[in-house]
Parts: sequence; structure tokens; C-alpha cells
Amino acid sequence: MTHLRLDRVTAYYGHLQALQELSLEVDQGEILAVIGANGAGKSTLLSLISGEQAPREGRVFFDDIDITSLAPHQRVRKGIALVPEGRHLFGTLSVEDNLRSGASTRRRGTWDLDAVYELFPFIAARRKHRAAVLSGGEQQAVAIGRALMSNPSLLLLDEVSLGLAPVIIRDLYAALQRITAEGTTLLVVEQNITEALAAANYAICLLEGRVVLEGKPDTLSQRAISQAYFGHDLGPSSKAAS
Ligand SMILES: Nc1ncnc2c1ncn2[C@@H]1O[C@H](COP(=O)(O)OP(=O)(O)OP(=O)(O)O)[C@@H](O)[C@H]1O
Ligand SMILES: [Mg+2]
Repeated sequence: MTHLRLDRVTAYYGHLQALQELSLEVDQGEILAVIGANGAGKSTLLSLISGEQAPREGRVFFDDIDITSLAPHQRVRKGIALVPEGRHLFGTLSVEDNLRSGASTRRRGTWDLDAVYELFPFIAARRKHRAAVLSGGEQQAVAIGRALMSNPSLLLLDEVSLGLAPVIIRDLYAALQRITAEGTTLLVVEQNITEALAAANYAICLLEGRVVLEGKPDTLSQRAISQAYFGHDLGPSSKAAS
């Protein structure tokens, strides 16, 4: 079943068009990777899905219901949760209070404090610490855990791996696989394409607000990805973006 559908959405910042008649579909339980360079429109795309921003044109459907005009908290209630770029934790609050803050709009489901601590044992040990003193990887786990506390059926993740060490990135992506095993659909936005493509069932690459490449990750060649990512061929001696 199509869980999320965007139909020819556009978005603008003043005169700048950030998304150009973009359409996409994500099925229930799928992991969609959205890759693209700086400024390609990835975060803007997420903002249209989470409701932070309304599209100027086009519609957003969730479980075949038109949610284009719903506010962010109404979308959380429907099952959409965002892990924002930069995490946006409450630094002076404890880990546990940050997690609880994600449960203010709570749907029925398997995620609660115990389930989040089981998913991320390394934050369980730090539950009473202020979020600000945690490492970047621990903070990212708290941000994911906070989003899970609303029991989403669609989890949106913006640059989960940005600035983190490879070993932590592996742990976080392993956790994402467990989250989809519970039936949750994931939309993973990344500049770091290696992890995102390895995890995803399907990938789209954005360039200047358009989908310029899409397909199952194992069908996309390095060269096609690099061309789509940068908008030009880097030549035979160059490496694809990673
Ligand atoms: N608040 C804003 N005001 C003005 N322009 C913006 C704003 N947010 C984004 N833009 C512009 O819209 C375009 C798309 O930005 P967006 O943040 O969606 O890209 P992105 O793919 O998430 O980039 P990054 O990888 O750097 O996070 C860019 O040209 C960006 O400069
Ligand atoms: Mg972004």
C-alpha cells in the first residue's frame, strides 16, 4: 500500500524555488533514501511531509488521505515523526525528559521508554544526564528515540549520520533496521550516501529541487549517482560522492 504520496509539490523561499513539481511514493515498511548535495531541497522536502511548511502547489497524501493543510502536531497524531537535522534536543533537560517530550502526542504502539532503552542501551545508562553533555552519537540516538515515543508509522530522518564517527553510524543504522522490522516506514535524508543506499529499498537523488535519478540502490551505478549528485560527470578518474 502507498503510505506516503507527494503529488507535484513545489516550495519557495521568497523567489527561490526549492522544489520543482516533485512527486514521489513510499510504500508501507519501505526505506526510502533521499540523497543530494547541499541545497538540493532534501530538508525542504521533509518539511512538506512533517507540516513545518506547506507546498505552494501540489498535494501531500498519507494513507490516501490529503494532509496538505494539516499542522505538524496533527500529522504526528496521524503517525508522522521527524528527526530534524541538528537534533534540536533540550540541552538542559535529562535524556529521559527529552524522550518523554516526544510522547506528548502518543499513538498506540510498541515504543515506550523501555523499548527505546532496549534499542539504544548506551543511552539507558545516561538517562539522568543532561542531553547537552552527551556525545553527538548519543544525542542522535536520543533524537531518534524521542521521535519513536510518538509511535510513528512514518519516520523522517534528516542527516542522521552528519558529523558522527563510522562506528556510531553503523550502530544507528542497525537500529533503523530494527525499527523497520516493526513495520515503520523510513525516509532517510543523507549527504552521506553510502549508509543510506546500503539500508534503502529505493533511492531518489535530488538536484536543484528535482528528482534527477531514482531506482533500487543496487541498480544505480556509481557514475550515474555521481552525475545526478553533482549535476555533471566528474570524469573517469574521479570517485563518486560518499
Ligand atoms: N529558510 C530559508 N530561507 C531561504 N532559503 C532557504 C531556506 N531554507 C532553505 N533555503 C534554500 O532552499 C534550497 C533548498 O534547501 P534545503 O535546506 O532544502 O536543502 P538540503 O538539500 O537540505 O541541503 P543541506 O544538505 O545543506 O541540508 C537551498 O537553495 C537553500 O539555500
Ligand atoms: Mg538539509
